[in-house]
Amino acid sequence: MNECKLDDYIETQVCAIRETAGGQCVLLALSGGVDSSVCAALLSRAIPDQVTCLFIDHGFMRLHEGDEIEGVFSQHKLRFLRVDAQARFLGKLRGVTDPEAKRKIIGEEFIRVFEEEAAKLGDIPFLAQGTIYPDIVESGNAQGNLVKSHHNVGGMPDSLSFTGVIEPLASLYKEEVRQLGRKLGLPESLTGRQPFPGPGLAVRVMGEVTGEKLDVLRQADYIARDEISQLEETPQQYFAILTDTRSVGVKDGLRTYDYVVAIRAVTTTDFMTCEYAQLPHQTLRRISQRITREIDAVSRVVYDITEKPPSTVEWE
Ligand code: XMP
Repeated sequence: MNECKLDDYIETQVCAIRETAGGQCVLLALSGGVDSSVCAALLSRAIPDQVTCLFIDHGFMRLHEGDEIEGVFSQHKLRFLRVDAQARFLGKLRGVTDPEAKRKIIGEEFIRVFEEEAAKLGDIPFLAQGTIYPDIVESGNAQGNLVKSHHNVGGMPDSLSFTGVIEPLASLYKEEVRQLGRKLGLPESLTGRQPFPGPGLAVRVMGEVTGEKLDVLRQADYIARDEISQLEETPQQYFAILTDTRSVGVKDGLRTYDYVVAIRAVTTTDFMTCEYAQLPHQTLRRISQRITREIDAVSRVVYDITEKPPSTVEWE
């Protein structure tokens, strides 16, 4: 979309949102992903005094991410509420190791928290969602439904009866949503965000999720992204995984038995298939050195060289 079309789009949607809401309140579940963030910015432009954004912090965000989201949206003209539900989600995942079970539990708990928090807000007639065009296309066929049920943290609960739904991005592709976000003044950290699974780092910690493992992964992931983001050409997605394997090592002359961290970096056009990124060895080396030096609990770093198929992008 060129500048003119972007301006037109914003103007048209601002009018449409005002007309639909008609002075009534609107609730948005804000994840901090590109779509819900741009939706929030647009709502803030259209009906600043009628919007409440509920950011449910499940504790599986990347390093500093929750605070960044709060930093951005607490500056916007809207009501921003952050719900700290980390302990609750971790409690539900105690002892759970199966990947599908983890996803299901997180999805269900998300709905429960959303219902409880929405109930506290009283009567809000409208629900806003950052649905984009590919979401509609994908859910229009059986395979799409399968993909969505695998990917989404949770649909919106039936028990919440909204008078109407507002979906101002429903005719846009992802790249257009990013452009719109930039135009609306959102920072690059949000508009340029990589795809990130709804259940977040919980599906990048293999096996049982604990606070300690999440902390280790957050640090390793931060280092990996920091190094890879400095490349001239960056892969479409790159991150770290905390495996459930421990390995023998030696640090400062002492034998260690610590975590193995894996690095995943992929090039792709559509995420349906992908190749592993052929990262420069210098970069891989720096990542490995930094992770093992800066994080006590890690003794080994490996690089995932599998393509999709057969491997998925995420490890769980
Ligand atoms: P897979 O692992 O299925 O991932 O090859 C393909 C792309 O989808 C992302 N992904 C998710 N996105 N919610 C999302 O919104 C999810 O639960 C989810 N799981 C995977 C993954 O990061 C990759 O970009």
